[in-house]
Amino acid sequence: MFRQLSRHANLNNLTSPSVPRSVRLAHRAVVFTENGDPASVLKTVTYPTLPAPPRDNVNVRFRISPINPSDINVIEGVYPSKPAPSDSLSPGHKLHQPVYVPGNEGLAEITEVGENVKGLKKGDWVVLAKQQPGTWSSARTISVEDVVKLPVDLSEVNAATITVNPPTAYNMLRTFVDLKEGDWVVQNGANSAVGQAIIQISASRGVKTINFIRSRPDTENLKKQLTELGATRVYTYDDLSDKSFYKSVKELTGDNPPRLLLNCVSGPATAQMTRLLGNNAHVVSYGAMSKKPLTLPTGAMIFKGLTAHGFWVTKWYTTHSREEREALFAEIAKLKLREPEHETVVLSSSLTDEEAGEKVREIVRKIGEGKYGKKVLLKIEDPED
Ligand SMILES: NC(=O)c1ccc[n+]([C@@H]2O[C@H](COP(=O)([O-])OP(=O)(O)OC[C@H]3O[C@@H](n4cnc5c(N)ncnc54)[C@H](OP(=O)(O)O)[C@@H]3O)[C@@H](O)[C@H]2O)c1
Repeated sequence: MFRQLSRHANLNNLTSPSVPRSVRLAHRAVVFTENGDPASVLKTVTYPTLPAPPRDNVNVRFRISPINPSDINVIEGVYPSKPAPSDSLSPGHKLHQPVYVPGNEGLAEITEVGENVKGLKKGDWVVLAKQQPGTWSSARTISVEDVVKLPVDLSEVNAATITVNPPTAYNMLRTFVDLKEGDWVVQNGANSAVGQAIIQISASRGVKTINFIRSRPDTENLKKQLTELGATRVYTYDDLSDKSFYKSVKELTGDNPPRLLLNCVSGPATAQMTRLLGNNAHVVSYGAMSKKPLTLPTGAMIFKGLTAHGFWVTKWYTTHSREEREALFAEIAKLKLREPEHETVVLSSSLTDEEAGEKVREIVRKIGEGKYGKKVLLKIEDPED
């Protein structure tokens, strides 16, 4: 179902007024024109039906796209990679002013292929190899170079979330320490999507995990969920204030103390967690959800050989070939990870751009306030008349 431009041009000042009345605004994207608080700067814009793709391109429909913490940082303007500005979301149609379409990952389904495209057909599920491709849109024309076909047998949610979090978990677990069955890994933010993947990938190799979460009214329930996923132990950061806690973890890990700490929170609690590590351990930071710096005990660095690293999956993608990416996705698909705890939020076809924009701003406001407590996936329906 489509929306006539004439009905909406005056409501949506991003859409070009020069588009003929007969052109139907078939698709929708979430956009921003300047960085700022996502709960203020996000809007939606509708744009015309995509023409047949050029020879080396495909048209895709995005089925679902996650809202990741880094997407929020991109919109805020505090993330190192950013989407390219675009004044056209459908070839041949110009917007009033350039916009940025957020969204770094998502599941796309091919709707049409250009005449030179080989090995892809209508209906195939793909993800995008390019960083910041603007997945918070309902349909786009993409160069075939930027498309990676997915292994079969993935659920819609696992396919939509395969490019960022599981590869981060997978690579951090294989890059810094040669982990063997029976070894221990410590992590914070254990209920995050990355944390859930770390738990499952570790458990699949017989690697045990010590997991930290924030306490909440239903802490025991969350501990149970993570244990069912394969977590060996789940604690809250509050436990770190108890002196006897360190002794009990030392008894648990015995003569094989953890040598890998995976950190997406930072702040003082993470510094305390380093006390659980053995000699020559590695702290790998991949996020800073507390928005606080990470300070490490100097003594542990001097006397116990503690080493600190950072990991960025974007860098991994830019330094690895298409074949290596495909091999990684195949490895991850084989693991049959449970879908991250999630909620799919629909931008319904019946909403006007103003209503859809208000809904998106409300969603990101709630994410900022921690009201979902799970990964939010955006499903953008094509608008209808
Ligand atoms: N470097 C990389 O390549 C890379 C790749 C993927 C992800 N990341 C980063 O990894 C982190 C997790 O990403 P995700 O997609 O897995 O996240 P997610 O599923 O959205 O989960 C967010 C996590 O952050 C926790 N959190 C939020 N605010 C916090 C605070 N003030 N103090 C402590 N914990 C807090 C949440 O705990 P509650 O449930 O208690 O709110 C939850 O565990 C993010 O920082 C993301 O940017 C980095």
